[in-house]
Amino acid sequence: MRVAVYSGSFDPITKGHVDIIKRAAKLTDKLIVAVLNNVNKKYMFSLDEREEMVSELFKDVSNIEVKSFEGLLVNFMRENRANLIIRGLRAVSDYEYELTMAFANSEISDEEIETIFLPAAKQYMYLSSTVVREVALNRGKLSPYLDKYVEEKVLAKLSSGGVK
Ligand code: PNS
Repeated sequence: MRVAVYSGSFDPITKGHVDIIKRAAKLTDKLIVAVLNNVNKKYMFSLDEREEMVSELFKDVSNIEVKSFEGLLVNFMRENRANLIIRGLRAVSDYEYELTMAFANSEISDEEIETIFLPAAKQYMYLSSTVVREVALNRGKLSPYLDKYVEEKVLAKLSSGGVK
C-alpha cells in the first residue's frame, strides 16, 4: 500500500492546501495530512484547532487521515509506514527551500523517503498562510483564500481577541 504524507503548519489551512491535498489523495492509497507542532513557533491556532480544521474539511474522504507530529517528519513517517512526501510547489521562491528539505529528508532517511512536488494551482501560486493571517489581522476579505468553515474559525478567533 502506498502511504504518502502531506505535512505543514496549516495555520490556517488555505484553499491552496486543500487543492494539493485533494489531488494528492487521488495519487496514493492513503494520504496522511501531518500537522506540525513546532514548540518554538507561535501559532494563530493551537495544534488541536489546526488539526480539527483539517479533519473537518476531509471528514468524508476515506483515504485521508489527519495526524499531528513533533520533531522530524521522517521519524513520523517511519512510525506510520509512509515513504512518500508530497509537497506543493508555488512560485520560484519556494524552489530552494523545498529542494533543501527534499534532500535533507532523503539523506536522513537513508534514501528511503522520496519527495514529489505538485504544482500549485494557478490561482493559488502566491497564496500562503502568512498572507492569510496578514489579511485577517487587517480585516480584509478572506473568501478568496479560505473555505467558508475555516474563514468562520478565523473570524471567531479575531472576535474572541485570540489574536492581536
Ligand atoms: O507549513 P510549512 O511551513 O510549509 O511546513 C513545513 C514542514 C512542516 C513541512 C517542515 O517544516 C517540516 O517537515 N518540519 C519538521 C522538521 C523536519 O523534519 N525538517 C526537515 C529536515 S531538516
